[in-house]
Amino acid sequence: MTGVTVRVPAKLNLQLAVGPPRADGYHDLVTVFHAVSLFDQVTVEPAARDGVTVTGEGADRVPADQDNLALRAIAALRAEVPDQGTGGVHVTIAKRIPVAAGLAGGSADAAAALIACNELWAAGLTQSRLAAIGATVGSDVAFALLGGTAVGRGRGEQLTPALAPATQYHWVLAFADGQLSTPAVYAALDRLRAARPADPGSGAGAGAEPDLDAALMSALRSGDAARVGQRLSNDLQPAAVSLFPALRKTLTAGLELGALGALVAGSGPTCVFLAANAERALELAVSLSGAGVCRSVARVSGPVPGAAVVSAG
Ligand code: C5P
Repeated sequence: MTGVTVRVPAKLNLQLAVGPPRADGYHDLVTVFHAVSLFDQVTVEPAARDGVTVTGEGADRVPADQDNLALRAIAALRAEVPDQGTGGVHVTIAKRIPVAAGLAGGSADAAAALIACNELWAAGLTQSRLAAIGATVGSDVAFALLGGTAVGRGRGEQLTPALAPATQYHWVLAFADGQLSTPAVYAALDRLRAARPADPGSGAGAGAEPDLDAALMSALRSGDAARVGQRLSNDLQPAAVSLFPALRKTLTAGLELGALGALVAGSGPTCVFLAANAERALELAVSLSGAGVCRSVARVSGPVPGAAVVSAG
């Protein structure tokens, strides 16, 4: 085989409930993941040694060495697959998912690399085996393999697919002029909670275990976008806004322009807006971009499937 290309989606968190920090520095989560139609494309080809080329959105900010999450995932997979032949692989990542934007682009690329090498090497590992390997590289890799809408627990790597009707939801993403570091946002949340332990605005109280939002799950089952919009929640949002105050204006603008709901994507700084239908999403995207409250906008829909091979030859 000369090469395998995989397409992999960005993720949103429709709920992100964060518990207190664990001994290992991570936080236990309960989250509702939702894969949307913003895709990176990852190609792997046999090569003398491992390497990576990154093109597209934010490519200059992606490490092009062994720190690249796709290469780290491949190294972890290689340790489990004895017969992948000699030599390495060259990975080409065509990015459309912005970097450090709260959309799990790095985890997506790692997931795509696992699917691609599993195919290239005819290794035959199951998705759950790939997910376990991926979880050692990033908390969101397992979901990028699965796609759809799913409840995540633990660090986010323990997944249960959500029974969802065929409803497609229409989202507008507002990309920020800047980035946020995920560890910095979690650390800011811990500080906010330590300073104001009883403040419900800082997310679940310090020490509380996170809970799945039954009303969100019921809204998703009903397929009623207005109800879903009212239940979107993200415990990291106050922390992201404290580090990136301009997001407050973006979120307010989207709601004033008719979004059914608004929240920060994961650890930010992308803002996410739910629209009633494709037409409303287009109107909202045009108005938001005219309002000058973000760098650029994209319309996406979800749920979409997880990482999948698009060509192999
Ligand atoms: O696993 P991932 O590389 O996406 O995590 C990046 C950072 O985000 C971690 O090093 C940790 O600081 C923080 N994090 C966390 N709890 C999680 C997931 C991520 O504290 N469940």
